[in-house]
Amino acid sequence: MDKERIDQIIAKYQGDASYLIQVLLEIQSENHWLPKEALERISEKLNVPLTRIQHIATFYKAFSLVPKGRHQIHICMGTACHVRGAPRLLDTVQDLTGIKPGETDLDLKFSLETVNCLGCCALGPVMEIDGKPHGKMVPAETADVLKSYE
Ligand code: FES
Repeated sequence: MDKERIDQIIAKYQGDASYLIQVLLEIQSENHWLPKEALERISEKLNVPLTRIQHIATFYKAFSLVPKGRHQIHICMGTACHVRGAPRLLDTVQDLTGIKPGETDLDLKFSLETVNCLGCCALGPVMEIDGKPHGKMVPAETADVLKSYE
């Protein structure tokens, strides 16, 4: 994310420090994580100490200080999904993306996490990508779904 874009986002909130969280949320949603340079720029422009920004960025789960992919994959390992084949789904996704839960691939395309229930157990095994659930996943279909993401 370039400096100009960061400045544009900060400018939208008229450099008002009370919008710190909104600025962080906007950068997170556009860039998928918060690089150190972005935090330094915000600190400078909003006149907020870097330590305070860092504190907020580590406190809220919505923010990431490490690189994240453009697409977030969540695989449900809850009981209902587990009995319907979630471990096999996880293996397939790991093979196709080359990453394990908690990791991001080198092209910053996908980040992978496991979760305990996505609230749509009847569709198990479920894989959610960017908040969209994909249910009853079998390996061939999983590959097709992953291929549809740029
Ligand atoms: S257990 Fe997977 S959606 Fe509920």
